[in-house]
Amino acid sequence: MKKSEIKALINKMTLEEKVSLLSGKDAWSTVPIPRLGIPSINLSDGPHGLRCCQGLGWGESVPATCFPPAVLLACSFDEELAKKQGAAIGEEAQDQDVQIVLGPGNNIKRSPLGGRCFEYFSEDPVLSGHMAAGVIQGIQSKKVGTALKHFACNSQETDRFVIDEKVGERALNEIYLASFEYPVKKAKPTTLMCAYNKINGDYCSQSRWLLNDVLREQWGFEGFVMSDWGAVDNRAQGVYAGLELEMPGTGEENNRELKNAVNGGEVAMPAVDKRFKNKLNIKQIDKAVVRLLEVVFDLYEKKNGKKCDYEKHHKTAVEIAEECMVLLKNDGALPIKGGKTAVIGEMAVKPRYQGGGSSCVKAINVSSPLEAMKKYGKVEYAQGYSLSDDSDESMIKDAVKLAASCDRAVIICGLPNEYESEGFDRTHLNIPASHIKLIEEVAKKQKNTIVVLCNGAPVVMPFVDKVNALLEAYLGGEGAGEAIADLLYGKANPCGKLAETFPQRLENTPAYGNFPGENCEVTYAEGIYVGYRWYEKHKIPTLFPFGYGLSYTTFRYDGIKAEKTRLNEHDELKVTVKVTNTGKVDGKEVVQLYVRENAPKVSRPEKELKAFKKVFIKAGETKTVTLTLEDGAFAYYDEKHHCRRTDSGKFTLLAGGSSDNCPLSCEVEVKAEKIYDDITIHTRFCDLGDNPKGKIFMNKLFKATGAKLKKEFKYLPMDWPLRTLVQMYQSPLTMPQLMEIIRQANEE
Ligand code: BGC
Repeated sequence: MKKSEIKALINKMTLEEKVSLLSGKDAWSTVPIPRLGIPSINLSDGPHGLRCCQGLGWGESVPATCFPPAVLLACSFDEELAKKQGAAIGEEAQDQDVQIVLGPGNNIKRSPLGGRCFEYFSEDPVLSGHMAAGVIQGIQSKKVGTALKHFACNSQETDRFVIDEKVGERALNEIYLASFEYPVKKAKPTTLMCAYNKINGDYCSQSRWLLNDVLREQWGFEGFVMSDWGAVDNRAQGVYAGLELEMPGTGEENNRELKNAVNGGEVAMPAVDKRFKNKLNIKQIDKAVVRLLEVVFDLYEKKNGKKCDYEKHHKTAVEIAEECMVLLKNDGALPIKGGKTAVIGEMAVKPRYQGGGSSCVKAINVSSPLEAMKKYGKVEYAQGYSLSDDSDESMIKDAVKLAASCDRAVIICGLPNEYESEGFDRTHLNIPASHIKLIEEVAKKQKNTIVVLCNGAPVVMPFVDKVNALLEAYLGGEGAGEAIADLLYGKANPCGKLAETFPQRLENTPAYGNFPGENCEVTYAEGIYVGYRWYEKHKIPTLFPFGYGLSYTTFRYDGIKAEKTRLNEHDELKVTVKVTNTGKVDGKEVVQLYVRENAPKVSRPEKELKAFKKVFIKAGETKTVTLTLEDGAFAYYDEKHHCRRTDSGKFTLLAGGSSDNCPLSCEVEVKAEKIYDDITIHTRFCDLGDNPKGKIFMNKLFKATGAKLKKEFKYLPMDWPLRTLVQMYQSPLTMPQLMEIIRQANEE
């Protein structure tokens, strides 16, 4: 339906009808108005599979394919793969009559303790933004809507309904909003879901700055915003701010607030935003209804009810998991060849493949690692520990005995469900003590011990030096079991890379001491230094760095070339990197391109990921990989001028297969196009060189004052302000002359 037709419909609506549309019919659908032909559309969680509850209770949902959660999907570093997963979810949505999938979630992982880290992609905004864009494009390619969430700074579960996230303007823009900006602009999600929390004092659900100024005016978002479930505080202010749909529906309560706000009646909730005076005009309501109905009609018209092939989707889930799991250590123990394998750990038969909470899919076909391994060779199983936490010594003894009688042991363990979920944050980074003891005891008796970890976020690994190989399987979706077996036995070659840093200990993490805050406030004291930016800046060793992951083959990097070495700040830059597969098997490598400013004026990270590409390279083959640095790749956020800014200067481009291993580098020179500051009598001498007006000023100055000053100029301390040209020694220059030269330079 066209906008003009929707506007015509609005003229036929009563105020009651209009406000009724602005909150859900129930938890999973929008309000219809049959007399006007307005349909209802259905919403369902996501993000890594459908949790379609319509007509069912809160805890029940229709079976669907459980794809790898974001934590694992991100390790693919592959936007196309994210699209593939999104497209499959979109197909299931059409099949299950779902018009909006509530995802993807792309909050930045500020702390590995965050309870929903498994639902988010990364600690890095570029990686996170690209993966989210892929998922959105995939889902929307099947004519189904998305709800990019949770906008923004939903970095923790503790007090999530009330927590005030105190974030500096620079960190907000460079890290937390950047993660949303890219997918909003590139993939154009149909809707966004605002977060529960406050940012710097304002609830996201009623922040006009966030929902209007940033999202719509700066980024050009055209869809509608819905609240997270129960995130609305002041409903009328929310509509004023740009929150169209309240979810779930609250029935009459908030509708009354809206009507009163329009009619000048009593509004129960006090206004927080000074610009909003508890009053809405009908135009604001109309605008919200138009934005909502445009999406509702569009998605309703695109319903096709097509049946989909769930068996095929299971295979897709397995393939995606294989592209993502990360080989962290391998002394040659993997891939497994021949002999008898002791498979140990209850997770081998009851795999942990997704996290708890609203994203929990009723999976159709969960594969068990043990069963999948049986297809490849001789295996025997020992429980090793109990997931219901009544592990006892005898389980370990039996496992050690079995391990000693086999050619190798594969221990599958990690974080049980109770350790991480939506709704609470972790307080430590440990896996259960019984799992650690099991690994240590088995490794004493079996010199070929392989550990497979199933967890939704980083854990510490006191056992790391005692084992021969380590596969980070994360939470792998319903195909995790087959993917683990395929990778262990070498049917698939590991090619995932860590999308987050694994710290050596909790105390080393960026937000330590400032997470989860107190008295409902949390301060992002680490600023922009999140994830690898923190560890590199403070030279803190990690357990495993961002971008790291091994393969059964090896790659050599030998040649980087930027298409030009001098460019303007808004130019796109193509960079080519030569990579050779030097091993004996085919494999995929994630080529990562980082940028470092050589002599920054402000504190900047040691390097930042700006582009990446996953490539398949046959054994012995060399490939030239082209990466593109997009506009903004050299910028930082300038708090003084409230904008993104690039300074003229030299930058180093670093390329490699991990953040800690970038063997290639080259230098480019970037010229800033924008002039940020006028010259004043307080401008320092050292600032003149960076400011194009500085050159003009100097020419005019020397023209006016002659050779004497030009000679002296060299000896002036560079941090002195221009006024000292008149005041500090017997200068030929008067203050009115200096001011006139400054005026002329600024105007030219
Ligand atoms: C979660 C959202 C979810 C919604 C609906 C909320 O508690 O934060 O991510 O989409 O519930 O289940």
